Amino acid sequence: MLEGKKIAVGVTGGIAAYKVVTLVSRLVQAGAQVRVIMTDAATHLVSPLLFKEISGNPVATSLWAGNAEFNVEHVAIGRWCDVMVVAPATADIIGKMAGGIADDLLSTTLMACAKPKIICPAMNTNMLENPATVRNLETLRRDGVTIMPSGAGHLACGVNGSGRLPEPEDIKAFIDAFLARREGDLRGLRILVTAGGTREAIDPVRFIGNRSSGKMGYAIARDAARRGAEVTLVSGPTALQPPRNVAFTSVESTREMLDAVLGVYPNVDVVIMAAAVADYKPHHRAEQKIKKNDETLELSLDKNPDILKLLGQQKAGQLLVGFAAETQNLLENAAAKVKKKNLDMIVANDVTMKGAGFSTDTNVVKLLFPDGTIKGLDLMTKEEVGNHILDIVKEKTGCR
Ligand code: PMT
Repeated sequence: MLEGKKIAVGVTGGIAAYKVVTLVSRLVQAGAQVRVIMTDAATHLVSPLLFKEISGNPVATSLWAGNAEFNVEHVAIGRWCDVMVVAPATADIIGKMAGGIADDLLSTTLMACAKPKIICPAMNTNMLENPATVRNLETLRRDGVTIMPSGAGHLACGVNGSGRLPEPEDIKAFIDAFLARREGDLRGLRILVTAGGTREAIDPVRFIGNRSSGKMGYAIARDAARRGAEVTLVSGPTALQPPRNVAFTSVESTREMLDAVLGVYPNVDVVIMAAAVADYKPHHRAEQKIKKNDETLELSLDKNPDILKLLGQQKAGQLLVGFAAETQNLLENAAAKVKKKNLDMIVANDVTMKGAGFSTDTNVVKLLFPDGTIKGLDLMTKEEVGNHILDIVKEKTGCR
C-alpha cells in the first residue's frame, strides 16, 4: 500500500522524535514519497538535515522561510500528500489541532490539509492522562483524525507507563493498514481465519495435538489484512508471531476455539477455517501427571464438536471456506465435507505430498465448490495459496 504514496510527516518536539528518522527511512524503503515538516522544538532534538537526507526531500520548518520549496507552502504540502502523519504528537500539537490553532508551519498545514490524518501521541503518562489531553484526543477522534494508541514502557522521564511512541515498524504497519482499509481490494470485508492445531489435555503436562504450524492460516490472515479486510485470527498454539493489524485470539482446545469463533461469527462476512482441529479429546483429564505404572495406558476419547459443521448449520449469509487435510481419496473426502458442512468452498490438501500440508512453507491444493467445480493449484508458497483463496473470496462476496 505504501508504494508510490505521498506522505507528509509532521515531527514535533517530543524526545521520541529521533525514532521518526527510522520511520521515514522505512517509508521511503517501502516506496513512499515523504516530506517532513518539523516544529521549531523538533529541530532542537533532531537536525532537519538528517530528515532531508533520509527522505530525499527538502524539510519544511518555518512559515517564514525565504527559500520555501512551494508557494504558500502550508497549503501546498497538504494538497500534495495522500495522508498526513504526526509523530510524535505532543500534547501541544494535539491541543492546537483540537482547538483550531494555526500558529506555525505544522499546525497551519494540518488546518489547511483536507487529506486523512494519523497522529501518534507520545508524552509523559500524566500529560497523556491529563483531562485536557483526553478531551482533545476525543475531539480529534470526532473530527475524523485517526489516533494510533501509544505504547507502554520506559519513558524518557524515567518512569514506566503509557505514552511511549510505538516502534517505527509498528507505525509503518499502522499507516499501511490504514491505507489498505481505504484502498485495499478487500476493504469492507470482515474475515475470520482460524489457524494452528488445537490441543486436548491428557494431564497437566501432556496433550493430544497435531503437526499444524499455523503457517497456512497466518499467511491468509496477514494477506487479508494487507488487502484491507478487517481480520480476526483465532489460533491454536504456534511458534509464529501474530500478524500486525489483525484482532488476535489465542486458544488451546477445540472447545476454546469453538467459543472464540462463535463469539465473532455473527459479525463477520467470511470464515476461513485453516486450523487443524482435534476431533477427539480425552474423556477424563487427570488432575496430576499420570505415572508410568503399567505397561499399557488406555485413553478413552470423546468426540469434540465439529466447529465448521456448526457454522454451516447456523449460516446467515457468511461465506464459509473449509480446509481438508487428507491422506487418501482427496477429492471424494473433500467433496463430502463440502456437503456435510454446508461450505461454499473447500481447500483440499493431500498432506502426504512433498511440499504440501503440515509445517511446510509451500502447499499444493485443490479448490472444490458445491456445484462440483474443481480448480487445482500447482506447488506454491502458502502466501500464494492464501491470495488465490482471497481472490475467490473477493469474487464470491463482491466485497459486500
Ligand atoms: O498449519 P500448517 O502447518 O501451515 O498446515 C496447514 C494445514 C495442513 C493444517 C491446513 O492446510 C489444513 O489442511 N487445515 C485443515 C486441517 C483439518 O483439520 O482438516 P479436516 O479435514 O480434519 O477438517 C475439515 C475442516 O473442518 C477444516 O476446515 C477444519 O478446520 C474443520 N474442523 C475439523 C474438525 C472439527 N472438530 N472442527 C472443525 O471445524
